Parts: sequence; C-alpha cells; structure tokens
Amino acid sequence: MTIDTYIADLPKVELHLHIEGSFEPALMFAIAERNGISLPYESVYALQSAYNFSDLQSFLDLYYQGMNVLQTEQDYYDLTWAYLSKMAAQSVQHVEIFWDPQGHTERGVAFEIPLRGIKAALNTAQAELGISHQLIMSFLRHMSEEEGFATLEQALPHRDAFIGVGLDSSERGNPPEKFRRLFDRCRAEGFKLMAHAGEEGPADYVRDAIDVLKVDRIDHGNRCMEDPDLARRVADLGLCLTVCPQSNMRLKNCLDITQHPIKPMLDLGIAACINSDDPAYFGGYMSENYQLVQDGLGLSRAELGQLARNGINGSFASAERKAELLANLDAYEAGAA
Ligand code: HPA
Ligand code: ZN
Repeated sequence: MTIDTYIADLPKVELHLHIEGSFEPALMFAIAERNGISLPYESVYALQSAYNFSDLQSFLDLYYQGMNVLQTEQDYYDLTWAYLSKMAAQSVQHVEIFWDPQGHTERGVAFEIPLRGIKAALNTAQAELGISHQLIMSFLRHMSEEEGFATLEQALPHRDAFIGVGLDSSERGNPPEKFRRLFDRCRAEGFKLMAHAGEEGPADYVRDAIDVLKVDRIDHGNRCMEDPDLARRVADLGLCLTVCPQSNMRLKNCLDITQHPIKPMLDLGIAACINSDDPAYFGGYMSENYQLVQDGLGLSRAELGQLARNGINGSFASAERKAELLANLDAYEAGAA
C-alpha cells in the first residue's frame, strides 16, 4: 500500500474546521445566483485566483466576504452537507466544527438560521454516513466582549445544540485577556472552552489561553514552541493542539514545510492533531493536510497514527464513541499491508 493510500484510508477525526471556510467557489456562485446576489468576481476561476494570502487578515477579508451570500437555512444545509460528504470519502469518522454566528447576525441573518441548517446536515450525516459530530460556537475576537455576551444570550436557548465555545478571527491585538469574563461565564454554563492562540499571535497568547481562559483545547498553538518551558507544560498537561498545516503555509505562518512545528511537537509528546481549518480557501481537506506533513517531514506510519489518535483523545466525543473510534484506528493499523 502506498503512503497516499494509507493516509486516504486512515480513520480520521477533524477538530478544527470553520464551516464557512469550507465554502467552495462553485457552491458560492450557485448560492449567490439562487439568492440574487452578484459576486465581485467574473468566474469561479477569478475568485479562486484571489486566494493569494499574505497573512491572517488578508484571508479573513475574503472569508467574511464569501459568507455574505449565505442567507437561508437551505444555504447552510448545502454548505455543511458538501463538507460532510467530502469527509465521508476521506475516511473521516467524527468532526467538530465551528460556526461564527456573529458573521451572520451582523448582516441581519437570524441567529437560528445557520444553526438549524448546519445542525440538520450534521444529523443527516450521522444517520446516513456514520459521521459523528460536535458543534462549537466561535466568538469573533475583533468584536467586543460585550458583543460576545450578547451572542451568548442569543445562543443559550439552543445550548443543547452545541458543546462549547471558541475564539477566532484577528488574533494580533485581541489577546485572550479581552475575553476573560465571557469565558468565565461560558465555563459556569458548562460549555467546553477553546481558543485560537499562537497561530499568528505570540506564545504569550497560548499561555494566557491556558491560564486566563482555562481552555480545554488550543486551536493552532504553533508558537508555543518558541517558549520551551511553555511547550513542556503543554505536553505535560496533555492539552490537545489542533494544528492546521496547509493553513499555516497559505497564511505564511510557516514558510517551509520541512520546518513545520508538528514534528517537534510530536517529539516532545504534545497531543497535536491534524486539521484543515478553512479547506476551500487553503486548498486541502483532511487527507491533503496529512499528505502535506508526511511529504514535508517524512513522518512514519506510527507518527501518522499518533496524530489520528491525538485527535480522537482530544475530541469531545462520548467515552463510548471515543472507544469505538480508537478501536477502528487500532484495527486499521494492525491490518494495513
Ligand atoms: N484563524 C483565525 N480565525 C479564523 C480562521 C483562522 O485560521 N479561520 C476562520 N476564522
Ligand atoms: Zn481556525
């Protein structure tokens, strides 16, 4: 079996996926037309050609522009279903996906509309494709903490629909400390907590995500590797880092895949896993992200398996589902030629 086939068939879980970042240009054009909206691009090709990013903000500008065409429950269903059917074809068995409610309510789409469409597609995928899921509500960190509190109030009547909250968008200048009170409240409400940290922002933001926000999981976390004591602590805590290699390359947070921190993370015993972040914008879903690090770093089958195992252990799946996912992975590793 070639390593590409090994990766394609490896049972995988995804823990870091912004559903709005899975919006493929062809679907964006189709939904724009359905909603009578004209995009500022002549073609799918012209839109794709604009995906040439210099940093996080240059991506976010297009990401928010792209989601503007989403209006109806059906739009969100179609978006989510497109992602999930691709994941079924890539041997992905469990997904934990973010949505950015403020990216929709800000332009007049009611809070419930994305939630209903996304959740309906997730439930269909569970029944028809066997993909289990958790949903996570992410706060936009370029907005104020007060606006975050207002979003939480809108969300609480639907609290059973999602397992936790995250923190995304422009990292630099928006440190974890800005959301201390909001995260205290979310913890008191019983939500799982996570935050993007150390993607573009400094190692200090990873430390503060741990000490100030008291997160259960860090999204990205790459720059903790610049502070050896902190990296050691992340390893000792068993804290899961949801690393996104293709995103790191496309946003210029990593300039050379042979220097990507995922390998030193594994060597240090950090519970890092592989994820796609915004695959429609960065040009790769789960298998492509595994392939990228395998090509660049020459990872062994055992290391690829460890990445998959870290994802399962770091997930918020039930204990029963985790055991099932681990058993599937063990069986695959034992049986692959
Ligand atoms: N980083 C921060 N915010 C985001 C991202 C990301 O990669 N994708 C969508 N929102
Ligand atoms: Zn992300």
